[in-house]
Amino acid sequence: MNHFRPVELGHASRLLNHGPTVLVTSTHGGRSNVMAAAWSMPVEFTPPRISVVIDKSTFTRELVIASGAFGICLPGAGLVDLTYAVGQASGRKVDKIARHKIATRRGPVLGVPLIEVGCAGWLECRLIREPHTEDAYDTCFAEVVAAAADSRIFVGGHWTFRDDNTELQTIHHLGAGNFVRAGGVLRATGA
Ligand SMILES: Cc1cc2nc3c(=O)[nH]c(=O)nc-3n(C[C@H](O)[C@H](O)[C@H](O)COP(=O)(O)O)c2cc1C
Repeated sequence: MNHFRPVELGHASRLLNHGPTVLVTSTHGGRSNVMAAAWSMPVEFTPPRISVVIDKSTFTRELVIASGAFGICLPGAGLVDLTYAVGQASGRKVDKIARHKIATRRGPVLGVPLIEVGCAGWLECRLIREPHTEDAYDTCFAEVVAAAADSRIFVGGHWTFRDDNTELQTIHHLGAGNFVRAGGVLRATGA
């Protein structure tokens, strides 16, 4: 059973607000790819815009510039090994989607490959073309055109981290292949 449900674009920033490590998906000219990225964040509310650092040397970058689109998928803790693996090898040399038998679906607006199995959510993104992105910086800006999340962990526009959904809880890279899983929720007095 698929538990993914659309997320209102006004709530899309909440998917990235807590700084999860993400999987950047892309496709162009019959080739599709996935890489890990620890550096991404929301930057604008309306329309929802995000930034993600995609090193100019990566195959992902080549596909994103060529297609003008990418997906941001949020791996749950159960995908920690996969996340690390796709951050170690380049899609130039190996088809990582085939090698790791990753199931993808097409994004509803731009048709980018999106991962749902084992992921807590995704954002389908249209690249905002900027001169500095093309030449100088690794940072890419994009508008979120569709978003969805697993209803077992993201409900009514909010994350709900509980003991029964730890496998779907987002992961956060500490460096050198060490991650922490989201959870340990603290509620502020007055909230
Ligand atoms: C946990 C993790 C986080 C990473 N974060 C980023 C990132 O934020 N930006 C980036 O450009 N590369 C990042 N990388 C490195 C890319 O994932 C790596 O260069 C990858 O092999 C590129 O794949 P590609 O050439 O198939 O696009 C990260 C790697 C790991 C393991």
